Amino acid sequence: MKIDKKIKSLPLTKSNPKTLESLFGRTDISPMWVADMDFAIAKPIQKALIKRITDSGFAYEYKPESFFKAQKDWYKKQYQLDLIRERILFSPTITTTIAVIIERFTLEGDGIITQPPVFMEFRDVIRKTKRKIVKNALKLVDDHYEIDFTDLEEKARSSQNKVLILCNPHNPVGRVWTKKELQKIISICKKNDILLISDEIHKDIVLFENQFTSVLSFAKDWDKIVVCTSEAKTFNIPGISDAMAIIPNENIHNSVKEIFNKYNLGRTNALTRVALETAYKEGESWLKKLIVTIEDNVHIIDKELRSNNSKIKLIKPEGTYQVWLDFRALFDDSKEMFNYITKNSGIGMNAGHWFGREGALFMRMNIATSSEKVKKAILSIIKAGNK
Ligand SMILES: Cc1ncc(COP(=O)(O)O)c(C=O)c1O
Repeated sequence: MKIDKKIKSLPLTKSNPKTLESLFGRTDISPMWVADMDFAIAKPIQKALIKRITDSGFAYEYKPESFFKAQKDWYKKQYQLDLIRERILFSPTITTTIAVIIERFTLEGDGIITQPPVFMEFRDVIRKTKRKIVKNALKLVDDHYEIDFTDLEEKARSSQNKVLILCNPHNPVGRVWTKKELQKIISICKKNDILLISDEIHKDIVLFENQFTSVLSFAKDWDKIVVCTSEAKTFNIPGISDAMAIIPNENIHNSVKEIFNKYNLGRTNALTRVALETAYKEGESWLKKLIVTIEDNVHIIDKELRSNNSKIKLIKPEGTYQVWLDFRALFDDSKEMFNYITKNSGIGMNAGHWFGREGALFMRMNIATSSEKVKKAILSIIKAGNK
């Protein structure tokens, strides 16, 4: 995969000196934290964007038939799903959608179940909407994260808890939930009348022998679900992407649509439209190469940790382009670990405890970059860990 060398000249969040200073206490750090990629975007997308900019101006646009056809074909081919156009809504970001859903279907003080360690913006949105975070923490069993179904049943049974936010594939632990696991989740939601929000933004980056299944496949059993997704991660376009809410239940869909309309959340951005339509039509071969590159990078990390007899452990990802590194054999205190490893490696990774205290003593490393950079980074981290 080609690295985008010019990207460094942009005002990127991941290398914003103010952000680096506040997160890592220094600015001279190699940023491997925010989940975007160092790779150049797919050529067809770049070409289509250039053509769109040179051809014409930017009056108001709508998403034409060709957009929805390309999207429908992509979802059918990639996930064997028949998208129903009338059930799709667009908003600027996934977190916007989650906030709307929570406010629409729950009351202040109601419980929202999450599965930490998990994407921190779930926690932020629950707090900002004044709901209660209810934790169904994941269990780590023999280096493999699992859902604690007994605990989930218990949390779902409480009439105060109204929503479960699932992250599939799971950020940061990299699980791609199996059909069997999803079936269990669906049956718990159905039994206890829980609205299921499934964040499937990482759906396309599925590694090795694993297979992604959307909860939409179970909509016949339980349709009180909202799938939040986008192509932002897949094609490295978070700077221009919008997000989709796929809502099979007509009443829920209409109710959410009313709010989206009220705040005018679904306006079509001309560049987003072009990028997405091209990605659906011509992005597959780029995506395939990306996955091979990410798998190679996982192997590099695994090999270096083993051959250097490091006490740092890799939790092998099934999906996403992050790896979840376990420092429990080296430290007792998560903040001390984070400060020490950051200072001595010069690599800016996400501290595990940013994803909830359940992530303490772990770090998340973004590996959507060149194999040379990944190797150099993991060697620096290993060296820092040999304290
Ligand atoms: C699970 C998950 N959901 C959502 C997002 C961000 O999506 P958005 O920018 O559309 O809110 C991320 C970004 O890292 C993520 O990992």
